Amino acid sequence: MKKYLIINGVNLNMLGVREPGIYGNKSLKALEDEVSKKADELGVEVAFYQSNIEGEIVNAIHDALGKYSGIIINPGAFTHYSYAIRDAFSSVRLPAIEVHISNVHKREEFRHNSVIAAECTGQICGLGFLGYSLALEALVNETKD
Ligand code: DQA
Repeated sequence: MKKYLIINGVNLNMLGVREPGIYGNKSLKALEDEVSKKADELGVEVAFYQSNIEGEIVNAIHDALGKYSGIIINPGAFTHYSYAIRDAFSSVRLPAIEVHISNVHKREEFRHNSVIAAECTGQICGLGFLGYSLALEALVNETKD
């Protein structure tokens, strides 16, 4: 069975508590349960990883090589400035999709740019938790042999 890694970056452990008007009132665990259900429907396996530490996310991307068919990542604020995470994706060359819960383009100017998206197949933003399930469907489609 194909396996995919779902990475949530900085501050996403605070889902449900953090700015509920923007991110909703459901927890990271609820998000992971939703994505697990989608994985069952698609007949694939998913693993979840969350860290607030940039280097740990870099390590998780490196460690994914040979274990996972692709990665879904919401880097949180690292999206906007982490060249280290960007370079981790260009190092492993695993198919990846970037997800944002909020519509970053409707928000502050600094959120409009992603330094990571150019290393990904695509980006989904503004669709809430659903974005992760849609990203999984797209990644499974992209990596089917
Ligand atoms: C976010 C958007 C980022 O700008 C922000 O720093 C986050 C969450 C989102 O999912 O909408 O932490 O990635």
